[in-house]
Amino acid sequence: MQFKEIKIGRHTLKYPIIQGGMGVGISWSQLAGTVSAIGALGVISAIGTGYYHNRAFVTKQQYGRPANTEQFYNRKATFEIFKDARKICGDAPLGANVLHAINDYPRVIQDVCEAGADVIITGAGLPMNMPEYAADFPNVALVPIVSSAKALRLIAKRWEQRYKKIPDAIVLEGPLSGGHQGFTYEQCVDPNYQLEKLIKPVVEEAKNIAAHIPVFAAGGIWTHDDIVKFMELGANGAQIGTRFIGTYECDAPQAFKDVLIRCKQSDIELLSSPVGYPARGVRTNLINLVSERKGPPIRCASNCVSPCKRGVEAKAVGYCIADRLSDAAEGNEETGLFFTGSNGYRIDRLISVAELIQKLVYGENS
Ligand SMILES: Cc1cc2nc3c(=O)[nH]c(=O)nc-3n(C[C@H](O)[C@H](O)[C@H](O)COP(=O)(O)O)c2cc1C
Repeated sequence: MQFKEIKIGRHTLKYPIIQGGMGVGISWSQLAGTVSAIGALGVISAIGTGYYHNRAFVTKQQYGRPANTEQFYNRKATFEIFKDARKICGDAPLGANVLHAINDYPRVIQDVCEAGADVIITGAGLPMNMPEYAADFPNVALVPIVSSAKALRLIAKRWEQRYKKIPDAIVLEGPLSGGHQGFTYEQCVDPNYQLEKLIKPVVEEAKNIAAHIPVFAAGGIWTHDDIVKFMELGANGAQIGTRFIGTYECDAPQAFKDVLIRCKQSDIELLSSPVGYPARGVRTNLINLVSERKGPPIRCASNCVSPCKRGVEAKAVGYCIADRLSDAAEGNEETGLFFTGSNGYRIDRLISVAELIQKLVYGENS
């Protein structure tokens, strides 16, 4: 299948492919900038930006961590990431991913708008008031991540009533994706909740809202043929996360990439998370320690996500998500938490982003 260019709001992508935002420290300037330069949508993660460039923009630490929400979702570092990405992609469309569950969501949406995001993608909760926070930036396209037609209907109804705004695109994320899931454990393995089953009702719901809202399928998509399969089921494009970790340009340290290169299919599991959703990652030393309640201390220096209730859920689950994801981003294999999609074991070597996009657009052997 020949892929066509696609519009998200006022922005046109050469290829109908979004590189999924990956926090902490996995999709920052190098990965997102390179993806956008080539003509897909690169997405900068706004999560844990205080860790950019070895915490160069953090002015206050506690227990050796960015000391609070403002330091963790660091405005100065966010601007720097966008500046560095723009050096690579110029004025090509460039996105930001901001999780709805974070503390300071309204402020971080404004930060990424001011830093130059063209598209903002939000998952982990229903972003009912997202248009309010981006209201001063009419050129910025707003894209919710949903896991059902019902979630889309609720968001669209509220946006229409309150803001006279429709979503500029939709990401439908199924339960094979990396990181947090929009499903219960049981649903993640239920055949009725797999992406193939979810796509039709979501595409129909999008058409009910407006004729032209593109739907991007996500979760477990690996090849050109996978993208074609979901396009034939009604999607207009795909969002892909994990496969981009297997690139030279991915901002994750080599140790992170090596964890994925080494891991087997049976090492990839659904884990409990203080965010309140199951999260997919690699069973490493940390997970073994946490299972025995012997994980690193939980101190909640960075106060990162509201569902954690200032460390209450972290203590219940056995780890702090901000500290463990940032340890992975700093290459600490012993105490890092390594998120991956269900296909992460398929990375066996690194390739360039250009080669990966070539494969996704034209086929594996192109
Ligand atoms: C390491 C990692 C970190 C992620 N972090 C985020 C995040 O911060 N926000 C988000 O909306 N999605 C996040 N995701 C999900 C991806 O953006 C993407 O939608 C998903 O992984 C797609 O499935 P795939 O990895 O099978 O391609 C993450 C995924 C991975 C693998």
